[in-house]
Parts: sequence; structure tokens; C-alpha cells
Amino acid sequence: MKTPLESEYDLGCVPRRTLANGSQIPVVGMGTFGSDKYNPDTVAAAVVEAAMIGYRHFDCASVYGNEVQVGSSLKQVMQSGVKREELWITSKVWNDMHGDGNVIASCKQSLKDLGLDYLDLYLVHWPFPNFHPKGCSVTYHNPDAKPYIHEAYMKTWSQMEVLLNEGLVRNIGTSNMTLAKMKLLLNDCTIKPVVNEMEIHPHFQQAELYDFMVANKIQPIGFSPIGSPSRPERDRTPEDTCDTTDPVILKIAERLNVHPAVVCLMWAVQRGEIVIPFAVKREQLISNLKAGMSTQLTADEMNAIAGIDKKCRLIKGQVFLWRKDQTWEDLWDENGIIKQ
Ligand SMILES: NC(=O)c1ccc[n+]([C@@H]2O[C@H](COP(=O)([O-])OP(=O)(O)OC[C@H]3O[C@@H](n4cnc5c(N)ncnc54)[C@H](OP(=O)(O)O)[C@@H]3O)[C@@H](O)[C@H]2O)c1
Repeated sequence: MKTPLESEYDLGCVPRRTLANGSQIPVVGMGTFGSDKYNPDTVAAAVVEAAMIGYRHFDCASVYGNEVQVGSSLKQVMQSGVKREELWITSKVWNDMHGDGNVIASCKQSLKDLGLDYLDLYLVHWPFPNFHPKGCSVTYHNPDAKPYIHEAYMKTWSQMEVLLNEGLVRNIGTSNMTLAKMKLLLNDCTIKPVVNEMEIHPHFQQAELYDFMVANKIQPIGFSPIGSPSRPERDRTPEDTCDTTDPVILKIAERLNVHPAVVCLMWAVQRGEIVIPFAVKREQLISNLKAGMSTQLTADEMNAIAGIDKKCRLIKGQVFLWRKDQTWEDLWDENGIIKQ
């Protein structure tokens, strides 16, 4: 499936990183969470467009509500000549499917929806087993919500290990973990996660957690790598900062004549991450994939971006709180203690 565009930019050769178990994951993937802004058909059309440009990695999840449509696009992509083994497809078990047997059932449903017989990567989307309705406000409170319970998480993880052993998935990983929770998992698991998907952008670098992952051969995948500029109003607070208007990012963008979003991605990839930016616009898809092939930031620029961390978490997870008197900080084990 070579296009003139692909040969012009050689975008069919996006680099891959080798994970601890030898799997090779493309450094740039397309996020597929359309949120309130892009409906499933628009995201699915972008998947086909992205594959024509050269994308081979797609970050999916059952909760994104579009795996059926994305699956149709993947079928189209494969019918046009892209081999299954060239693709890297991730999906995730949603929080209301952590119970006994549910992880396996959820994975099988994602496989069916996506039209695949295996996933390249399956993640536990959040460490909390708490349901909330789609599109609810951040003040929504589920009276049945529970804190993180390690024994329960390990039951979920052991189902992930079964999926791997049975060949339904090729790699397993975590998402939205903290240092404290990851240490517990590493102590008690039989099979270690090979990746952790976590929020990372210049204003939220998570350096300590990132370094811990790297030291333990767990590849960080950065979500919302541009700082999720199109997230819904309900996910914004007055304290949130904006990566793409930061003077350090703007100065580099001007030097390279690229959009500031692209600088965020270049920084992430040069730092060693896998990035999964969301885009449905052709020009954005192209520049985001090109960012994954760039090593254009100088050491001084990398250092300058390292200096603009504002510890500004955007995806705060308020809906997972299990008591009404809590704040979102209680979810993130900031002093190393898992709150109960
Ligand atoms: N594991 C998790 O819990 C989790 C959580 C959140 C997200 N994710 C994953 O991460 C993916 C990305 O996260 P995200 O959508 O929150 O944020 P993001 O990738 O940081 O931001 C995406 C938005 O940035 C803009 N954009 C993209 N490329 C651009 C470019 N080259 N130039 C200018 N603007 C550009 C687009 O806005 P416009 O469309 O308005 O132009 C796009 O909608 C999701 O789709 C999902 O797959 C995972």
C-alpha cells in the first residue's frame, strides 16, 4: 500500500522500539479516542487515511465506543495489502470489566469488534474498577466506587497473564499507574508488564515514574502527548496550563517551522517514549508521523523543555473517587501512599 506521499516522506519506515520481550512497537501510533468532538465514523475514516500515510500502530479501547468502526477500517487496510503482522493494535479492558472472567470476555469482545484474532498489546485501562456513565460530569460520584485494592488488581492482572499465555494478546501492560501501585504489581506478578501508558507532555513529564519504568524495562507510552488541546470543557480546570503556547515550545517551533504540537511529539520521541497523538486531519497525521522520524531537537532544546514541567495533570480521573470528601489528588499516591 505505497502512496506517493509515503515515498515522498518515506513514512512507511517509522522507527520501532524493541520491548523487553523482543516485540517491536512503532514509535508513533494514532490515538483513536474521538471524545465528544469526533464520532466513530470520522475516527474510522482517519484510521484508513493514517494507514495510507504510513501509520501501522493504532491505540484503541473498548470504552472509546468505536472498535466496530475501527475494525472495519482495519479490514479495509489489510484488504489493500498491509499485512496483519505489520500492524500494531492496542486495546484496553475498561474499569467495569475487572472481575473474574470479565477481562477475558472483554478482550474477546474487542477482538470480535476489531475483526482480529490477536491483539499486539492489551492494557488495564485504569487501576480502579469503578464504572461511570459515558460523558458524565467530573462531579459524578458512583456510590459503589472502590479505592485501589491490590488483591483485586492482581486478579485482573492474572487474567491478563492468561490472555498472553493463550495467545489472544502478544503483550500486556498497564495504564494510569503510579510508582506505588507499579511496585506492588512488580512484586506480585508472574509476567511483568512491558509497557505503561501514562499521561506525558512537556507540562506533565512524570520524570520519577518515567525513570522507574525505564529502569525496570517497562516502555513508557505517552498519552495526550500534545496536552489534549481539544478535550471537552468538562475536563478542563482554571489551573490547567497549555503546552502548545509555552514560549520554549513556540521558539523551537519557529526555528523548525513546524506547529508547536509537533515539537511536543519530537521531544517525547527523542526522550525515548512511544507517542499516540490523536488526529483526524490529514496534515496533522502527516506531521505527527514525521515527528517520530525526527532527531532535530538540540541537546539545549531538550534541556529547555525538561525545564518547563509544570506538573500539570490534565486527565485527573475525578470520576474514580470513592468518597465525596476527596479530591482528585487522592487517586495519584503523591506521597507514595495508596489512599484507602
Ligand atoms: N490510557 C488512557 O487512559 C488514555 C487517556 C487519554 C488518551 N489516551 C490515548 O491518547 C490519545 C491522544 O490523546 P488526546 O486525544 O487526549 O490528546 P492529544 O493527542 O495530546 O491531542 C489531540 C488533539 O491535538 C490536535 N493536534 C493533533 N495533531 C496536531 C498537529 N500536528 N498540529 C496541531 N494540532 C494537532 C488535534 O486537535 P483538533 O482536532 O482540534 O485539530 C487533536 O484532536 C487518545 O486518542 C487515546 O488513544 C489514552
